[in-house]
Amino acid sequence: MRSQLERVGRGSPSAASATLDVVDAQREKQLAAEAAAALVEDGMSVGLGTGTTVALLLPALAARGLSLRCVATSLQTERRAREFGLRVESFNGIDRLDVAIDGADQIAPDRWLVKGGGAAHTREKVVAAAADRFVVIASSDKLVARIRPPVPLELLSFGLAATLRRLEPARLRDVPPSPDGNPIADYLGDVRDPAELAARLDGTAGLVEHGLFPPALVTDVIVAGEVL
Ligand code: 5RP
Repeated sequence: MRSQLERVGRGSPSAASATLDVVDAQREKQLAAEAAAALVEDGMSVGLGTGTTVALLLPALAARGLSLRCVATSLQTERRAREFGLRVESFNGIDRLDVAIDGADQIAPDRWLVKGGGAAHTREKVVAAAADRFVVIASSDKLVARIRPPVPLELLSFGLAATLRRLEPARLRDVPPSPDGNPIADYLGDVRDPAELAARLDGTAGLVEHGLFPPALVTDVIVAGEVL
């Protein structure tokens, strides 16, 4: 049987998202969160992403009753994880993680991701890169035939107008700053070649991090409980 990733690859960019209502999306996120929680083993160090799907992961993980060391990518996740009794540590003293689990805004058939809808993509990328296994959890409306704008950007405040000019077309997002206090913007231009765009963004002075996550970073994609 073709996987959901392959199937959506043959449809229109919004093929998966057009028909999913809020209740179904929530149920699919719950299934994905539970499937990811089941992958975690006693004694592991775990990176926790940010967003509504990760919010469902936290109780599922806590319910396993394992002894874990967790690192959080945002204050929201840190607070909520602690409320569920998970042990959250600073990421300054841990040099690798067994697993990181996080949501995504877009998942392409070739496993390029767009992240940063919650403005936490810099920390999320650092945590994903430090993990032996990076598990993406999502509802099926996140599956896209190809990556499309916007691509979230975290920028330095210093020289902001000049950085934005070099990134055109891009615009500042009217949201609170990133977990590290930096402004958030969105790149709105051509994203047909994510590798080329990622290289360009990586080389832009003043850009802290962008929300394009390469396939090499992604170990597993779980959509609605199905491992793709
Ligand atoms: C936050 C993110 C989130 O993982 C992404 O926005 C998906 O969020 P949700 O699980 O709420 O759909 O990248 O920066």
